[in-house]
Amino acid sequence: MTQEIAVLSTKPEMALESPAVRKVFVKTYGCQMNVYDSDRMTDALAKDGYVSTDVMEDADLVLLNTCHIREKAAEKVYSALGRLRDLKKKKAGEGREMMIGVAGCVAQAEGDEILRRAPAVDLVIGPQTYHRLPEALKRVRRGERVLETDYAIEDKFEHLPAPDKAKTRARGVTAFLTVQEGCDKFCTFCVVPYTRGSEVSRPVAQIVAEAQKLVDGGVREITLLGQNVNAWHGAGPDGEKWGLGQLLHRLTEIEGLARLRYTTSHPRDMDDSLIDAHRDLPQLMPYLHLPIQSGSNRILKAMNRRHTTAEYIALIARIKTARPDLALSGDFIVGFPGETDEDFEDTLRLVETVGYAQAFSFKYSTRPGTPGADLEDQVPEDVKAKRLERLQALLLSQQNAFAQQCIGKTIDLLLEKPGRMPGQLIGRSPWLQSVNVDAKSSQIGDIVSVRITGAGPNSLFAEVVS
Ligand code: SAH
Ligand code: SF4
Ligand code: F3S
Repeated sequence: MTQEIAVLSTKPEMALESPAVRKVFVKTYGCQMNVYDSDRMTDALAKDGYVSTDVMEDADLVLLNTCHIREKAAEKVYSALGRLRDLKKKKAGEGREMMIGVAGCVAQAEGDEILRRAPAVDLVIGPQTYHRLPEALKRVRRGERVLETDYAIEDKFEHLPAPDKAKTRARGVTAFLTVQEGCDKFCTFCVVPYTRGSEVSRPVAQIVAEAQKLVDGGVREITLLGQNVNAWHGAGPDGEKWGLGQLLHRLTEIEGLARLRYTTSHPRDMDDSLIDAHRDLPQLMPYLHLPIQSGSNRILKAMNRRHTTAEYIALIARIKTARPDLALSGDFIVGFPGETDEDFEDTLRLVETVGYAQAFSFKYSTRPGTPGADLEDQVPEDVKAKRLERLQALLLSQQNAFAQQCIGKTIDLLLEKPGRMPGQLIGRSPWLQSVNVDAKSSQIGDIVSVRITGAGPNSLFAEVVS
């Protein structure tokens, strides 16, 4: 799942109510990598005396961690900045200062434009330079408007502090861990290679140390993140380049780490060792996000995906041979320039053939600076809308069918957090479904055996099997 659907603010952490405490409100748009980055920025700011708040009006610093993937995602930033300008003015009238910072992929792509269009913004900082955030804020306090969007030569991960135990505990029993950043694939529709730069893989030792810290803080499940996570090729302790399969093996040696996932993968980077890991590692959950984008070979070629539908289907067959209970999720784009009715029918056929437990689908959005923007034959909006509706109906029916198939099964559930009703907890199935079950809050972090008893539109219901 790498969409701008999730709009989260970082959770509030314990604040001492003294006037010396500075408060930061972080709003996160976009993919899980931004969620991870928002936490890392919060951790970097903690060293500077900031605690996070989930009340924007209380904040001394508001940070928008933005997404540029589709036009709508980028537009959201400017409308949020309009509201923030008014809040800043109101607070100034009350003698209270509020700084506004823009981070993330819009910052990287349109830094100058943000400063020009939004005079209330004090700071623009790109995803590669978050470790320079405290320093940049000092410059803001000296009266500068700061633009920090160079690709840093130093490694941001080495300079960003990891959270302490208490903070990790407060953030819950599942965690993200970015292992790879950037993308060298240059799909013709996509801004990521421009906003996140070229592929960089973190070394094994750094990743293992961070994972161990998370586990020490009570984390039971880690999702390894990367824009192209299965292209990860980090330096191993033996001086060799390791692949993701090898890294997953190493991580299963961490005692107490019960579950592993990774996202997002490109079909061209699923190598044998990674497929074997699905067979050999029970900790690796049987769920894989493997986007194809289109079911038409002609469109795949125009998108520069560099594989065919037949290769994708054969790949999935191999992964399912390794792990028969594996379920798939994917991403689709409808209305890429030149997409005909026939191409779109091919996409529907592919979805029927593969069968997805979950999937995300979008209307093609023209992104300035990408090769797709210069293509002729842009598809009219109403055609895109109709295609999206049909595709989403099919994907939803597959998602519901998958949920129905789960009823009656006994599965492992990682209990994550309190449910809506007292006495209820919400957990995650191996296939990332939310499951409601009666259990005590002291059981959060446990993996229990449950029988699925029913399925609602967005979650399953279960009872603990004694
Ligand atoms: N690295 C991942 C995708 C990252 S972007 C991959 O290669 O699959 C997340 C998703 O956003 C993509 O899978 C794609 O479906 C969608 N997306 C990216 N650019 C888009 C655009 N210009 N218009 C519409 N959807 C887009
Ligand atoms: Fe974008 Fe393609 Fe890279 Fe995915 S693989 S991030 S879609 S350029
Ligand atoms: Fe969006 Fe940047 Fe992620 S464009 S999807 S926040 S990598």
